[in-house]
Amino acid sequence: MKVLLTGSSGQLGHALQKFVPPNIELITCTRAQCDLANSNACIEIVRNHRPAWVINSGAYTAVDQAEIEPEIAFAVNAEAPAAFVEALSEYGGRLLQISTDFVFDGNQGIPYKIDQLVNPLSVYGSSKAAGEKAALKFEGARVLRTSWVYGPVGKNFCKTMLRLHADRASAGHVLKVVADQIGSPTSTFTLAEACWRVIMLEKELVNRRLFHWSDAGVASWYDFAFAIGELAVQNGLIQRAADLKPISTPDYPTPAQRPSYSLLDCSSTSKLLRLDQRFWRTSLAKVLHQLRADLSSS
Ligand SMILES: NC(=O)c1ccc[n+]([C@@H]2O[C@H](COP(=O)([O-])OP(=O)(O)OC[C@H]3O[C@@H](n4cnc5c(N)ncnc54)[C@H](OP(=O)(O)O)[C@@H]3O)[C@@H](O)[C@H]2O)c1
Repeated sequence: MKVLLTGSSGQLGHALQKFVPPNIELITCTRAQCDLANSNACIEIVRNHRPAWVINSGAYTAVDQAEIEPEIAFAVNAEAPAAFVEALSEYGGRLLQISTDFVFDGNQGIPYKIDQLVNPLSVYGSSKAAGEKAALKFEGARVLRTSWVYGPVGKNFCKTMLRLHADRASAGHVLKVVADQIGSPTSTFTLAEACWRVIMLEKELVNRRLFHWSDAGVASWYDFAFAIGELAVQNGLIQRAADLKPISTPDYPTPAQRPSYSLLDCSSTSKLLRLDQRFWRTSLAKVLHQLRADLSSS
C-alpha cells in the first residue's frame, strides 16, 4: 500500500519513517517537493503518486510566530488539508490529518473527549481547527489529535530543557519553568505507532473519524522539565540537573495564548486501536535512551 508522508523532516515525520510497517511503500515529501502553503502543489503531488493514504504530518508549528503571520499558518494548516481532500476524493484515497490539543481552550478540568466543541485560543489553534474541519468534510479523512509532542529528532521542549539544564547547572543558575499549564507529554515513538494503527485498521474503523492520542498520565511543564533533568542525569546525558523554580503563565508571557489544561481523553481510541497508552515518564526514558545512543554513535 502506497502512503505519502508530508513533514518528513519533522519530529513525527522521522518517527513515522522509523516505525513504518513492512507492507507500506512510503513516499516521503519535504518542503522542496511540496510546499504546503501552495494548494496546487498539494493537489499535484497526490495526482502524481495516487497514494492510498496521505499522512499530513507537516504543519506550521511555530505557535508564537503564527500570531504575526496568520496567512501562512492558515495556508499550511488549513488550506493544505483541503487541497489533499480535493485530490484524494478524485479516486477514493484517504487522509490522516494530524491535529492538536490547542484546538481546545483548556477551560475545563477533565480530559477532552473527541466530540467536544473546539474553541482555539491562538492563531495556530484556529488554523489547525480549520484544517480538521476541511479534512472532516471528506468521508475518507481521519483526524488524530495529540499533545506536547517530543522525540529524539527535531526541535522540542525536551531537547531545549536538556540544553538549559546543562547550561544553568554549570552556571549555578536556576531554571524557571511554567507550572500552571497541564497536559500529557507524548513521544513521537508512541504517536507514530498510533498513526500507523489508524491506517492498518482502516477496515475496522470505518465509522470513526476522530481520534485522540497522547501518552498516559498528567504533567505540568515544570513536572516534565524536572523528569527530563532527573532521567538525563541517570542515563549520563547531562552531568547535573539545574535547580528548577516553578513559575506561573503570566511570569512567562508569550505572544500566543495556550490552553492551561489540555488533556485528551484517549480511552475510546485506545480500545479501538487495541493500543495501551504508555506512561509519559516511561516514554521519556525511551527517548532519552535513544538520544544517548545517537550521541554515542555520532
Ligand atoms: N509539536 C507538538 O508539540 C505538537 C503537539 C500537538 C500536535 N502537533 C501536530 O503534530 C504534527 C507533527 O508535528 P511535529 O512536532 O512533528 O512538527 P515539526 O517537527 O515542527 O515539523 C513540521 C514539519 O512540517 C514541515 N513544514 C512546515 N511548513 C511547511 C511548508 N510550507 N511546506 C512543506 N512542509 C512544511 C516542516 O518542514 P521543514 O523542515 O522544511 O520546516 C517539518 O517537516 C503537526 O500536525 C502538528 O501540528 C504537534
